[in-house]
Amino acid sequence: MRAHIITYGCQMNEYDTHLVASELASLGVQMVGSVEEADLVLVNTCAVRGKPVEKVKSLLGQLRKEKARRGILIGMMGCLAQLEEGQEIAKKFDVDILLGPGALTNIAEALKGHERFWDLAFHEEINERIVLPPPGALSAHVAIIRGCNHRCTYCVVPSTRGGVEVSRPPEIILKEVELLRDRGVVEVTLLGQNVNSYGRDNPDYPSFAELLRRVGEVGIPRVRFLTSHPVNFTEDIVKAIAETPAITRYIHLPVQSGSDRVLRRMAREYRRADYLKRIETIRKYLPDVVLSTDIIVGFPGETEADFEETLSLYDEVGFDHAFMFIYSARPGTPAYKHFEDLPREVKVERLKRLIEKQKEWSLKKNRAWVGREVEVLIRGRAKETGFAEGHDRGNHPVLVAADRVAGPGLYRVRVTEASPHLLFGEVVETLFRPEPLAAAG
Ligand code: 5AD
Ligand code: SF4
Repeated sequence: MRAHIITYGCQMNEYDTHLVASELASLGVQMVGSVEEADLVLVNTCAVRGKPVEKVKSLLGQLRKEKARRGILIGMMGCLAQLEEGQEIAKKFDVDILLGPGALTNIAEALKGHERFWDLAFHEEINERIVLPPPGALSAHVAIIRGCNHRCTYCVVPSTRGGVEVSRPPEIILKEVELLRDRGVVEVTLLGQNVNSYGRDNPDYPSFAELLRRVGEVGIPRVRFLTSHPVNFTEDIVKAIAETPAITRYIHLPVQSGSDRVLRRMAREYRRADYLKRIETIRKYLPDVVLSTDIIVGFPGETEADFEETLSLYDEVGFDHAFMFIYSARPGTPAYKHFEDLPREVKVERLKRLIEKQKEWSLKKNRAWVGREVEVLIRGRAKETGFAEGHDRGNHPVLVAADRVAGPGLYRVRVTEASPHLLFGEVVETLFRPEPLAAAG
């Protein structure tokens, strides 16, 4: 059998795709790079906003045609699969296998020739599997916690990935990180819907701060983590970052809104002042920190005054970057049930103004790097454009003149120019180049 996986959504989904790919490999299934070559096509779905759901639908439409033509098996996995909305879609498009985000290890069972195999349970063993990226990867993800104890009113995640946080055993996390180090991986990103809560569900596990220190000692030069929640981002975590050189000084701390009224309706469990206090603590220990955030515009009931508070919070913090989203009403969430959606024009107009704000700040922040040296992880090959692409320890995308780049690796780069979205630079020194891979077979 030959399988192809198409992945939508966040880094956790990418990680889960690797997990399923290695389960399939252990069953002797060959992974292929396109739908045309495959007799099993799996779609790893995202349900956080309406757009990714629409994408999945149109893909499934194409796959259904392929199925009618030559009888492929279609599987739907991930967040959308867990929701009623997704199950309706799966029926409509004649999906054969449906696996929720906690049921992925059951892919073997699903392939045993059942007519239709649907599994939406959470199987603890998912946390025990060792997941490695394809050989040669310099950057890898490591799941440390699944599910989320928070109940933000706009968010599907507690219904899709579970409303109870389940931490992965620390010895398994550390083993995975060590294996990654031995394979030449130079950057790991610890993943969870809320990594800051790590260990709170098991008295035998270390705290997130302690886990960061341990992972930071394994010998991988760059350790990052995603995503944090302002309520759980405690001072011990900030200290652990400050005292562990491998951990990058890049923090993604979603604020969602600058208005207390909106934060309350979102059930974010903190207020504007609490968020600003967290930022103050972070900057006290990490004065050079690079900060990014998530913001939702046009949450139900958001007034012009509320939105202006988001703009003013942006100025008060001075974020380096922001991921900005138009509120998308998701079936099954409390906000969907109880609140009226704002007109689309209002939401679009606010997003435009926020993007202007973000660009101004990113340009200002990025310009401050000109003349300084940064460590750039170049993953891709040099492009025909004359630039090789990478990112630095602050997660800035960096374009580097390709003539001094021999291939993927870590480079010391002097920043020569900045735009709102990018840094440009020249290589000063090669810091690390991976060993050539041994020939297969
Ligand atoms: N509409 C718009 N954005 C959303 N996010 C989560 N749910 C929604 C929604 N219903 C955003 C949040 C979160 C990020 C991953 O996606 O900003 O932090
Ligand atoms: Fe969703 Fe993040 Fe809130 Fe969890 S913490 S409910 S994932 S927005």
